[in-house]
Amino acid sequence: LFVNASEASARKIPDTLFGIFFEEINHAGAGGLWAELVSNRGFESGGSFVPSIIEPWAIIGDDSSVIVSTDLSSCFVRNKVALRVQVLCDIEGANICPGGGVGVYNPGFWGMNIEQGKRYKLVFYVRSEESINLSVALTGSNGLKKLATTTVVAANVSNWTKVLVLLEAEGTDPNSRLELRSTTKGVIWFDQVSLMPLDTYNGNGFRNDLFGMLKDLKPAFLRFPGGCFVEGDYLRNAFRWKETIGPWEERPGHYGDKWKYWTDDGLGHFEFLQLAEDLRALPVWVFNNGISHNDQVDTSSVLPFVEDILDGLEFARGAPNSRWGLVRAAMGHPEPFDLRYVAIGNEDCNKPYYLGNYLKFYSAIKEAYPDIKIISNCDGSSKALDHPADLYDFHIYTSASYMFNNANHFDGAPRSGPKAFISEYAAHDDAGNGNLLAALGEAGFLIGVEKNSDVIEMASYAPLFSNTNDWGWKADAIVFDSSQAYGIPSYWMQHLFKESNGATLLNSTLQANPSNSLIASAITWRNETDKNEYLRIKVDIFLTVIISALKTYTI
Ligand code: AHR
Repeated sequence: LFVNASEASARKIPDTLFGIFFEEINHAGAGGLWAELVSNRGFESGGSFVPSIIEPWAIIGDDSSVIVSTDLSSCFVRNKVALRVQVLCDIEGANICPGGGVGVYNPGFWGMNIEQGKRYKLVFYVRSEESINLSVALTGSNGLKKLATTTVVAANVSNWTKVLVLLEAEGTDPNSRLELRSTTKGVIWFDQVSLMPLDTYNGNGFRNDLFGMLKDLKPAFLRFPGGCFVEGDYLRNAFRWKETIGPWEERPGHYGDKWKYWTDDGLGHFEFLQLAEDLRALPVWVFNNGISHNDQVDTSSVLPFVEDILDGLEFARGAPNSRWGLVRAAMGHPEPFDLRYVAIGNEDCNKPYYLGNYLKFYSAIKEAYPDIKIISNCDGSSKALDHPADLYDFHIYTSASYMFNNANHFDGAPRSGPKAFISEYAAHDDAGNGNLLAALGEAGFLIGVEKNSDVIEMASYAPLFSNTNDWGWKADAIVFDSSQAYGIPSYWMQHLFKESNGATLLNSTLQANPSNSLIASAITWRNETDKNEYLRIKVDIFLTVIISALKTYTI
């Protein structure tokens, strides 16, 4: 490799080149990065119908001691379902239940991680015509091992009453559950039951270990909240930012029909912006443009969608006394968020109404926020776009060798006009899994991205997370359960590129490149902590050897 260190041939890599893409897929947020431990906290996961689905809530007791149902008596207007627990037990006419009482428990998202010495904030809403005597506990998965207990006694809860309890764990169990038991006869309603560890990143609700793995990547941007999650299989189930802001208790939650699970939307529009800020990454908001996988809004009717997005931009960027800035300020963030990028839809370029809808959003946003960079779903890498845009989106999921061989894809991209945002890339084996070979293919591709960073502004791997209990999409950078997490090779591969943002790309040439199996780049950067200048040379070797006529082995 010949590296030319002369300044004349060097070029600055964009500060934004490598970032991350968070999608609510594989329980990445609900039961993942968002530290809420209660699953289906508002009993709403079956929608606003009764009888409702209360799973994974389950009953403590038997048919003769407790009857559990749902009704629409909640005090919250947008999520009316409440849990009705009828405690029947009456030992010897004394209105007393056996043992520690009967009631319900929640096992969280495949077990709650409760850790000794840590504190947990439990909030729930309760109502009853009787005085209540509740036993609240964090226990092991079978209810026997007690990790934290307390009693809630109240003489008058005839109106919905908020209860807040701090629990300190005396033991550790990654497979714990939350129990709510009554020791006396009567009917009790519960709603919006939340259990959050106090120990989250900056107190902002992000699970510390998972947040740390993101932070370690030094991402320049955070694209959110999807992907297909943004579109939905049907528009009625798409992510609607207004339904995800304000007090968590009042959020209706929604069923993400593409990835087939319910989210309480504790991780909402505000929290995504907060996440970006905490990561010191620029937020990139992908919004629904009136198009889902199976239905779409005709351009002549798209105006309400456009207005809704302008409101969302005001929520992020407006002055604290503007209509939506006021809502943001009330949530604890009077300063505007640094939102500079939006994507109009996801993978919708070929849908009949895309271009028409896109242009409506584009002109309205540019008029109100001329500085915001707008990302089109249409690929502009092989020919110029036929519509205005600041960036174009590019997705690539493929085999390791194809990924490596695509390192030069952008060599022929137009050198003027919109730049590329490779917002989703990943290599995988035939079964869809990531592995070391896939990471080597991706590394080759990213070296090509560095070399073409005059026309590529951003790139991010996808998907970012998977909970091992909902591994729907297999190649994911970070895999976790309730208490542990690891990065697959593709995650660690990204660490090799985290110094590239804003670095200087030196002109480098391979003197020999047998079978085009090599790709290399050289960067220099200054470390602001130790004030040293560094040089990193990356060489990726990807050699395919035909071992027999039938099989291709890659080494
Ligand atoms: O990353 C998983 C999915 O792949 C995204 O939701 C979508 O944009 C793409 O098809």
